This record gives sequence, C-alpha cells and structure tokens, in this order.
Amino acid sequence: MTDMDDVKVKTRKSYAESAKAMLEYVENSKTFLTDKIITLPTSIFTDADRWEKEMSEIFEKLPLCLATTAELRDIGDYKAADMLGKPILMVRGKDSKVRAFLNVCAHRGAPVVAEGCGHVRRMSCKYHGWTYDLDGKLIGVADAHTFGDIDKSAKGLKELPCEEKNGLIFVCLTPGQTFDLDGFFKGFLDDFEELGFADWHFLGSRVLTGANWKIAFDGYMEAYHFAALHPKTVAPRTPSNIAHYQAFGPHLRIGFPQVNISKHLNPVPSEQWGDMEHKGFDFIRILFPNVSVFVANKITQLAQLFPGPTPDRNITVLNYFTRKPPPDTEAQEALEGMMDFLYKVVRDEDYWVGNHIQTGLESGAHDTVIFGKNERGNQFFHEYVDWYLGLRPDEPSLF
Ligand code: FES
Ligand SMILES: [Fe+2]
Repeated sequence: MTDMDDVKVKTRKSYAESAKAMLEYVENSKTFLTDKIITLPTSIFTDADRWEKEMSEIFEKLPLCLATTAELRDIGDYKAADMLGKPILMVRGKDSKVRAFLNVCAHRGAPVVAEGCGHVRRMSCKYHGWTYDLDGKLIGVADAHTFGDIDKSAKGLKELPCEEKNGLIFVCLTPGQTFDLDGFFKGFLDDFEELGFADWHFLGSRVLTGANWKIAFDGYMEAYHFAALHPKTVAPRTPSNIAHYQAFGPHLRIGFPQVNISKHLNPVPSEQWGDMEHKGFDFIRILFPNVSVFVANKITQLAQLFPGPTPDRNITVLNYFTRKPPPDTEAQEALEGMMDFLYKVVRDEDYWVGNHIQTGLESGAHDTVIFGKNERGNQFFHEYVDWYLGLRPDEPSLF
C-alpha cells in the first residue's frame, strides 16, 4: 500500500466511527454527551489582560493557518494582508517553497507588495524602489552609493517560520520560533491529504467583523443552536443539538448528521460509511486556535478568525473552495450565489447574535456562562485555551 492508501484507510475508518455514532444519535434522539456542565466567567470574553495573554501565549506561539496552497499555486504568487495587527506576506519562491515575511521594507518600513493576492517576479518597494528576491533577500538599492557600503545580506525581509502541508500554509508570528506540525496536529492533517486539498481551487473570500474571537468561534463548535438561530437556513438539513466529536490534540473533527442520515446509511454496509461524507452527514474540522473548515458537497468554507484589534472584536475571513475550477460562467455564478448565502448566514445569524452577546456580557448582567453536557466541543476548546495560558495543569482530554 502507498502512504496515500494508508491515509485513506485510516481517515475513512475514523469517519465511519463518527458516522455510526451519528446514525445512532439520530435514530434515538440523542447526542454526544459528557458528564459535566461547566461554568466560565464572562470576563474571559471581555477582559483586556486575559486577551493580551491569549495573543502572546496562543496566537504568537502556535502555527496558524494563514493561507492555502490554492491561493499560492505558482512561483511568484503572493498573499499579503494585515493579520492580527501584523503586515504578513507569504510568497512562493523559485524553489517552490512558500515563505512568510513581515511585509516591511528594511529601508524605512514601507510595504514591499500591495495588500491582497498577486504575482511578482521580485518584490519592489513602492516608496523608494528597493527590491527583494522571492526568498526575501535584498537585491537592489536605488542609487546605492548614497547608502555608503551597505551590506545587502543583512537587510533582507524579516522571515517568519512557515510550512506548507496538505494544502494548508502555516505560519508562526514570532521570528525564529520553531514548530512541529505533526506533533501539533496528531494526524489530523491527514484529513486534508485524504481530501486532496492541495489540488483544490480557490474561489474567493468574504470578510466580516464580529465579537470576541472565542464568542464567534464557539458558534462553529455545536449544533445546539440550529433550531433557534437557523430555523430556515441550517436546521432543515441538519438536525439541532446532534453532533459527534473526535479530537486530535486540541483540534476537533465535528460530525453533523443530516436529517436523512438513516436513508443514506442503512442500505450501505457499515464498513463503507466512511466514504459517505456529505451523503447523510458532514464534518466541520476545527484547527486550533482559530480556523473552521466546513467541507460541504458543492463548496467548502474555510473560516479564519483573527482576534482584534480590541478584545471585543474579531475579523473573520471566509475563504471558499471547490474541488475543481467551475467549468463555465453559469457554474461560477451559482458558486458566487452559494458564497453569498453562506456569508449572509454567518453575518446575519451567527455574528449578529455574537455581537449582542458581547454587549450583553459587558453589561454585567451575569458573572458566568454555562456549557452543557451537549456542548463538549466548546468545553474542550475553552479547556485548551486555559491550558495554553497555563491556567490548568493537565492537558485536556475529550473523554
Ligand atoms: S521604504 Fe522601501 S525603499 Fe524606502
Ligand atoms: Fe451557526
């Protein structure tokens, strides 16, 4: 067997286990339950010191998924954006490797590429024209003699640790910090290999703002809110308050059954249920700390939640993908319609309620919020946040 076959067998076996649990839940009106109910202080969503600590201990230390292979397909393709208050630039070099830099010229600090996605042969600063190679080396200084004996090799762009794997590009915001993707993801990135995500097509993105990043992210991790908050958009397809959780380190694969899961799964031998993602059930994959990937049948949404600029806010980028580029303009238009639909559900339903929650918690109405036995994914996420902040001694475990 090839490695890819191994990955396929392993992931699909794990998908099948989730499918089996989901079918049982739907047929018996149950869901994944833990034995504890937890209360958390509302200050974790409002307190500035807490938020600063989350930035320094989580967002500045862990590898973050800041881009996808689909956005940086060819040599010279780049993506530049302000992320978490820093000007980040990722570019595919002549050796096909993606590197990340701070998009800040060594002369007097201007950006060396314009924000957005594009293609360059080299990067040329807009201010006075210093040029950098795709690997960040300074290669050209206009009227160099006016800078004396400048050592170009010491004036490259500031590089950030960066690694590409299975279609995802991970960057650490602290220069020089090392990270071990396999150790961090505990096999979860196999899901993206199995999906063939590195070959997928990037359709475009939508940006929106919302509440504290954890308030917003909580909405991606449970099915309890579907009936009340999404009666017309989500609940008709995906029953409320039924979800199955599987953990890989701090990351989660959350199974959401469809209302007709029995009709799809019962005629098929259970060994094949792992091949039936979208036919009876769907997964949302949570990459700790801030990415949610909803692989739907026709379109995939990868949400990146960026905390800030203040504790009560986040900026979310919803990125959309398909397995293959749309074959014609009609297909393209249909996909644009789906992107707008998904964006509006997030904006007008999930983030709408999130913004009210932020105001509500800041009003001092309650000292705590509650996570029930059915909201284990959320409990687990908050336990991991606490663990990274050094607020609990033991690494959390789902069970
Ligand atoms: S700031 Fe970039 S060339 Fe002057
Ligand atoms: Fe929702």
